[in-house]
Amino acid sequence: MNATNTARLRRLLHLRPTVPDRYRELIARHVRGRTFIDVGCMWGVHGAYAFHALDGGATQVTGVDLMSPSPEFVTRNLAYEGRVRFVQGDINDPSTAAALGTADVVFCAGVLYHVPNPLLTLEHLRRICAGTLLLGSATIPEQRQPQTAVFLPFLSPRARRALSYRSADVKIGLDTDFVRGERYANWFWGLTPSAVEAMVRAAGFEVRERHWHRRSICLVCAAV
Ligand SMILES: C[S@@+](CC[C@H](N)C(=O)[O-])C[C@H]1O[C@@H](n2cnc3c(N)ncnc32)[C@H](O)[C@@H]1O
Repeated sequence: MNATNTARLRRLLHLRPTVPDRYRELIARHVRGRTFIDVGCMWGVHGAYAFHALDGGATQVTGVDLMSPSPEFVTRNLAYEGRVRFVQGDINDPSTAAALGTADVVFCAGVLYHVPNPLLTLEHLRRICAGTLLLGSATIPEQRQPQTAVFLPFLSPRARRALSYRSADVKIGLDTDFVRGERYANWFWGLTPSAVEAMVRAAGFEVRERHWHRRSICLVCAAV
């Protein structure tokens, strides 16, 4: 069964959408007739959300990532006649934001907790976002103090274990010690949903919708 049919079945059974289904639904809802940038478009997905935006009627689509384009991305993009522009770069580098320009809709999922300075990253997202930010981030459960963000490098293994959960892949920096050479592959932050929301607001967005999942949040934000 393909992803669209699985999402339909889950809706029929009144099951919560999966996180990827949530992303696909929000992208489809926002992109028709709009320009679109996917920040962190490559690992594990090979630009799938960028292609989904094209399928949904986006007028111009750009994907950006630190990684070089995967063979899967290149093959699929050829089938789409090269309509996804790929920029290889670090979203925290001002020259990357300059190369990207702006888009009506910016999608960024699975990046915020991997960067050492999430507010800086959000400010760069604000710079390239002319309308709507769709932001997905892994989260930790809310703590006693609202807006808690836990800096993970050099946290004791025991404290890290308390914040972790089972997943298919090892979460570097959360399930392991911090690995300096791995840079952005590390989980730098354990962010509570309320901390993510406060940071997004501090960077110049208003939060219009919140979608909570077990270990992540997805926010629909307007650039203000
Ligand atoms: C966990 S994956 C998420 C992939 C996809 N967005 C998703 O939600 O399934 C994070 C992606 O963001 C990229 N990335 C991490 N830090 C980045 C940065 N500073 N600038 C650009 N891309 C970055 C990684 O290379 C990787 O492809």
